[in-house]
Amino acid sequence: MEKISQVWAVYFTGTGNTKKTVQQVAKAAAAKLGCECKDYDFSLPKVREQELAFAPTDLVVIGTPVYAGRVPNVLLPYLTGKITGNGALAIPVVTYGNRNFDDGLMELRNIMHSNGLHPVAGGAFVGEHSFSVTLGAGRPDTADMSLAAQLGEQAADKILSLSAVPAQPVAVEGEDPIRPYYTPRDRNGTPINILKVKPKTDTDKCINCGLCARICTMGSIDPQNVASVTGICIKCCACVKRCPKGAKYYDDEGYLYHQHELEDVYARPAESKIFL
Ligand SMILES: Cc1cc2nc3c(=O)[nH]c(=O)nc-3n(C[C@H](O)[C@H](O)[C@H](O)COP(=O)(O)O)c2cc1C
Ligand code: SF4
Ligand code: SF4
Repeated sequence: MEKISQVWAVYFTGTGNTKKTVQQVAKAAAAKLGCECKDYDFSLPKVREQELAFAPTDLVVIGTPVYAGRVPNVLLPYLTGKITGNGALAIPVVTYGNRNFDDGLMELRNIMHSNGLHPVAGGAFVGEHSFSVTLGAGRPDTADMSLAAQLGEQAADKILSLSAVPAQPVAVEGEDPIRPYYTPRDRNGTPINILKVKPKTDTDKCINCGLCARICTMGSIDPQNVASVTGICIKCCACVKRCPKGAKYYDDEGYLYHQHELEDVYARPAESKIFL
């Protein structure tokens, strides 16, 4: 086993949960391994056009949120097509909004393994749900962050004790083969389709600062007219939660029904989990 010389915090984030969690895991691992930690944020479309290649002496902490129980499907072309592991070790990390991470971590682990990375540890952490300010409110909290640090430290200890790269990726919770995407349903059990839903802009509140257009993870907000969403919207809620004036909102009936149902049914605190 070659010595690890570089730790990476690599992540996609809409509302900041995944960034915070991945950075915490990476920082703790880097401290234990005595090397530096570099950030790589692929939340913006321009970044996802670029190739990303690692070295066998890298440890890559890579994270995405869980969308519909899986890795966000819009990220699949990037995750499967642009990342080359070159035998680097990896810690896949997902954050999820207090419902369930279902097969999200398993899928991320499998994708990284097929990219030539070796997943040696993993974690699923609760984060406030993108759609809500009550579901998983305040998560990741202090306990989640200390568990994230524990994951980084224990993964580093495991790596230091390895004599060879493990043949099998770390065992994580979830099913393999990966199950279909989670489908929200209305009160009659009919699937709710929110694919075409886009946030609206309250023009009385909006000060035209342009932040939402700069941070839209799909590059879909027109900078000349921020009320206009010209491309696809994945409901990441970056624009909704990060607008300084609270000017972005959803008014779609199906979306709001789903949001309120999640808030009612999944109110209990869910558990963050680590796998080593
Ligand atoms: C489209 C969409 C689907 C989601 N699906 C799930 C889910 O299936 N289970 C869950 O617990 N949280 C789900 N969430 C919540 C996010 O996984 C959670 O809030 C995550 O921490 C967001 O990460 P970020 O702050 O890095 O963007 C979903 C969020 C979005 C936007
Ligand atoms: S971030 Fe908010 S205030 Fe700024 S342009 Fe967008 S909607 Fe307007
Ligand atoms: S418009 Fe949609 S994709 Fe873009 S930041 Fe807002 S919620 Fe995310």
